[in-house]
Amino acid sequence: MSHIIVNRIEKQFPNGVQALRGVSMEIAAGSFTVLIGPSGAGKSTLLRMLNGLELPSSGTVSIEGQTLGPRVMQRIRAKTGMIFQHFNLVGRLSVMTNVLTGRLSHRSWIGSVLYLFHERDLKIAHHALERVGITEKAWERADRLSGGQQQRVGVARALAQGPRLILADEPVASLDPVAGEEIMRLLRKICDQDGITVLVSLHQVALAKRYADRIIGLNAGKIVFDGAPKALEHDVLNHIYRNQKAIGNEEHFEAQMAYA
Ligand SMILES: Nc1ncnc2c1ncn2[C@@H]1O[C@H](COP(=O)(O)OP(=O)(O)OP(=O)(O)O)[C@@H](O)[C@H]1O
Ligand SMILES: [Mg+2]
Repeated sequence: MSHIIVNRIEKQFPNGVQALRGVSMEIAAGSFTVLIGPSGAGKSTLLRMLNGLELPSSGTVSIEGQTLGPRVMQRIRAKTGMIFQHFNLVGRLSVMTNVLTGRLSHRSWIGSVLYLFHERDLKIAHHALERVGITEKAWERADRLSGGQQQRVGVARALAQGPRLILADEPVASLDPVAGEEIMRLLRKICDQDGITVLVSLHQVALAKRYADRIIGLNAGKIVFDGAPKALEHDVLNHIYRNQKAIGNEEHFEAQMAYA
């Protein structure tokens, strides 16, 4: 249920790349926002900044009224679930253990090191697996699952954290269309039922239009579109994905245009 304010963020990497150029946005608590934009636009950098994985060169991010900085970072991270393109599960561990790692920020460090969990954590993890529909896989090795199932485990791990915010960076990019649709449906449901703020980056415009309350389009580190899915028409998409042709990404550009 996190309310987010991003205020005039600039991000320059040490190699000189300017990934974000004066990005400002306000995200309402409990909303579902999708970030779109061509490769290199700055989507991942922006998402990582909301979890303190990248620090801005200038500008500020505040979540629930607290400006991100070293003092509040641990607390914010504990309440932020991350979902990744490549799932980031520990393949040799069971599904349940992976989901339980979502509880680690609630444990003492010694408990974390020894993978010691309380009964209560097991209940929470089990409930999270129930919500994503894979309780029967709880004790399988995570790397035995299909991509779609692994991403559900990723969602369950985020849920087990008891997050107020979920950040998902291209959560469906490694999945087939059906599994991708299921993951989007799950995230939307979690947003609606739990009131968790959800921010997702996507390369699939059609999915963005179907699931988002609001779509933010980035190009070359700037917000070039911010509005309702229905406002995302052909010329707007053209604007968001401009220069794709210039960098030799014609196929991708045409694919996006086909959805307009
Ligand atoms: N750690 C880094 N060091 C240097 N440059 C970086 C780093 N991370 C990202 N960049 C650069 O910053 C720019 C924005 O990258 P970012 O990963 O945020 O784009 P993106 O919109 O997520 O792209 P994609 O759709 O391909 O995932 C790119 O030019 C990228 O090469
Ligand atoms: Mg990215």
